[in-house]
Amino acid sequence: MSQTTPAQINFEGKAVDLPVMKGTLGPDVIDIRKLYAETDAFTYDPGFTSTASCESKITFIDGDKGVLLHRGYPIGQLAEKSSFLETCYLLLHGELPTAAEFEPFENSITRHTMLHEQFDKFFSGFRRDAHPMAIMTGAVGALSAFYHDSLDIHDLKQREISAHRLIAKMPTIAARAYKYSVGQPFVHPLNKLSYSENFLRMCFAVPAEEYVPNPILTKAMDRIFILHADHEQNASTSTVRLAGSSGANPFACIAAGIACLWGPSHGGANEEALNMLKEIGTPERIPEFIAGVKARKYKLMGFGHRVYKNYDPRATVMKQSADEVLEAVGDKNDPLFQVAKELEKIALNDEFFIERKLYPNVDFYSGITLSAMGFPTTMFTVLFALARTVGWIAQWKEMIEDPGQKIGRPRQLYTGAGQRDYVSISQRG
Ligand code: ACO
Repeated sequence: MSQTTPAQINFEGKAVDLPVMKGTLGPDVIDIRKLYAETDAFTYDPGFTSTASCESKITFIDGDKGVLLHRGYPIGQLAEKSSFLETCYLLLHGELPTAAEFEPFENSITRHTMLHEQFDKFFSGFRRDAHPMAIMTGAVGALSAFYHDSLDIHDLKQREISAHRLIAKMPTIAARAYKYSVGQPFVHPLNKLSYSENFLRMCFAVPAEEYVPNPILTKAMDRIFILHADHEQNASTSTVRLAGSSGANPFACIAAGIACLWGPSHGGANEEALNMLKEIGTPERIPEFIAGVKARKYKLMGFGHRVYKNYDPRATVMKQSADEVLEAVGDKNDPLFQVAKELEKIALNDEFFIERKLYPNVDFYSGITLSAMGFPTTMFTVLFALARTVGWIAQWKEMIEDPGQKIGRPRQLYTGAGQRDYVSISQRG
């Protein structure tokens, strides 16, 4: 990070020089840390649309150009050539692993997939119709009650073990949340399988039949995990950082991230995109639907993004996976896929969408793909949480290891009552 000529702010007759920081990529950042001390004024930025809350070396997004890089590597290359576990190593450690580095990492993740036997009792405490995200929020938070030996956030080794435990146990917890909801017995992890094979088996194997992994579905699952692994300082990641800034343990912080992800503006959009495609039903009904979008009756779900004002690079890969999965297990003439492709074509050529820079995001095709793979819509956000765990924990680790780290404590613009004196109840009204 280099510095350049300072920015100057004039406030109430006083000029203050503010340092300007330059990152490797992306816009310059004006350092306002001394602003309050020098001007007695705060800045106002609800939703943090203009505020960098931290310095990070993990993920870079250029929303105008449709670029997403993890540790410098484009998401398309990782989705094409890497695996989810290798991407996990990259996010956590900053470099792609050598074979000698990858082997013990993979081994450690594989051997931390089991849950404490007592942990399974949690699941039966939930109602059968509980949303799996409710189970995830509770169960992941409860991990801190089971793994006391990895709660010391100041111990490098313990931080590493808790990171591995979270990445390893998330598929086991997610699969149990699903199995519980359909009333089937839990399936234990099997170490000879890959991360994604293992997860699909824990979700879809039943004791009455031999489970044979489908390589196309395994590849699609792995890719979906890569595509959702990290996305810099989004709402859930910022939640994890904020929770962690107080020194809370990593399991509690990730549970906070899961709670934030659950919201429909964040992790819940792919479910809505699929529902929208079902509602449209056939390509003939698209013009009528588009007219409704233009009349602002509803939004085109799976389109638009706060950061991407260009094609979401993850959507390109997702579309390809949708194609492959539908060819393998679904109907390649699936009407929903036909509606999605036609809708995309029409929207990309329509002035309303062009003017507003509305392009498909990752959620546009992920719902169709996950549904064809056999997942119910309630599991979509759970899969997102599973994949994003590595991003959350990498960002949490980066924050803990930053010597300048402080507890997060935003300021406010207070618009409530001024100071006044208490009036007893008999004298009010
Ligand atoms: N359909 C129709 N119009 C839209 C859409 C959409 N999906 N998204 C934005 N617009 C319009 C807005 O109405 C606005 O129009 P106006 O200028 O005429 O008022 C304009 O485009 C700009 O929109 P903003 O709301 O300012 O964009 P913002 O960056 O705040 O919103 C968001 C981004 C929330 C993702 C939005 O595009 C949206 O709601 N999309 C649908 C939901 C969705 O797919 N979310 C998934 C995001 S990806 C993820 O979380 C993994």
